[in-house]
Amino acid sequence: MEKEERIESQILKLKEKYKDSGQDLNSYLDGLLYQRYLTYWDYIHLDTLLSLQVPRTYFPDEEIFIMYHQITELYFKLILHEQKQFVDHKAQDVDFLIEKTRRINSYFEALISSFSIMIKGMEREQFLKYRMALLPASGFQSAQYRMIEVYATPLENLVHYSEREQFSSKNPLEDLYEHIYWKRGATDKETGEKTLTLKQFEYRYTPRLIRIAKQVKDNTIYHKYLRLSEDKKKNKELIKALKTLDINANVNWPLMHMGSAHRYLGKEKGQLDATGGTNWRKFLPPSFQKVVFFPDLHTKEELNNWGIQWVDHIFNPDKINKE
Ligand code: HEM
Repeated sequence: MEKEERIESQILKLKEKYKDSGQDLNSYLDGLLYQRYLTYWDYIHLDTLLSLQVPRTYFPDEEIFIMYHQITELYFKLILHEQKQFVDHKAQDVDFLIEKTRRINSYFEALISSFSIMIKGMEREQFLKYRMALLPASGFQSAQYRMIEVYATPLENLVHYSEREQFSSKNPLEDLYEHIYWKRGATDKETGEKTLTLKQFEYRYTPRLIRIAKQVKDNTIYHKYLRLSEDKKKNKELIKALKTLDINANVNWPLMHMGSAHRYLGKEKGQLDATGGTNWRKFLPPSFQKVVFFPDLHTKEELNNWGIQWVDHIFNPDKINKE
C-alpha cells in the first residue's frame, strides 16, 4: 500500500512538472512504456568510441599513438569542463574554487604519470616510420591545449617570452594573439614564413580561440583569483592548488612530453625533424618558453628557475643556445 501511495504521489508530481511546461503527462508516460532499457554500451557510445582508432599504416604501435592522444584529449576536455565552471562562478566561494583546481590537478597528474605509455611504450623503429604518414599533423594542433591556456590566463602572459615585456592588457586582443609563443615557435625566423602545420591550425581555429579569449577577457582563472577579497586571496590552500596547476600545466606535463621527443627524435648529433616542423629542442623546453599562468603567485626565484631542474639533466642548454 505504501508503495502505491508513493507511486500516486510521484504521478501527481510529474503531472505538475509537465503542466508547468505546457506538456501532456500521458504522452510522456507512453514514451516511458515504449522506451528500450538503457545499456552500458549505448549510454557511453562504446561502439562509436572503439571505432575511432583508425591507423594510417600497418605498424601495430601506431594504434597506441592514436589512442593515447585520444585519451589525452578527453582529459583536456575534463580540464576545460572544470575551468569553465571556475570562470563562470559568480560568488567568491573559495572552497568551490579550490575544489575545481584540485580536480584539474588530478587530471593533469593522471596525464603526467601516464606519459610513460608514450615514452617507453612504442618501438622507436615503428614510430619513425609511421610518423612519416602523418605529416604535417602534430599535437601542436591540439586546440583544447590552447583553450586551456586561454581560460587560465590573459593573452599577454602567453606572448613569447622574448617580447612579453613589451605587451600588456592595453594591447588589442588580436595583437596579443598574433604574438603568442606557439605561433613564433612555428614561424621561420629568417623568412617569417609560417609552417603548414600552423597555417592549417590558424585557418581552422583562430575564430574560435579569439571568441573564447574575448569571452574570458578580464575573467580568466587568474583574473578571478586577483579579484578575490584580500583575505580570500591569502588562502594558503587555494594558492597552493593554483601554483601546482601552473607547474603541472607549464612544467611537468611539458617535461614529460619533451621526454618523448628526446626518446624518438633525439640523435647524438642534432635532431630529427618533427612532423609539425618546429625546432623542437628550442620550442619544447618550459625553461625557454617560461609560460606562467599565475605569475604573482610565484617568487622571483621560482620564476627564474622555471622548468630548469630537469632540463639541466637531459641536455646542456648552453650548447643548444650556441647551435
Ligand atoms: C611519441 C610521442 C610524441 C612526440 C615524439 C611528440 C613530439 C612533439 C613535437 C616535436 C612537438 C613540437 C611541434 C612540432 O614541430 O611538431 C610537439 C608539440 C606538441 N605535442 Fe607532441 N609529441 C608526442 C606526443 C604527444 C601527445 C600524446 C600529445 C597529447 C595531446 C601531444 C601534444 C602536443 C602539444 C599540445 C604540442 C604543443 C606544445 C606547445 O605548444 O608547447 N604530443 N610534440
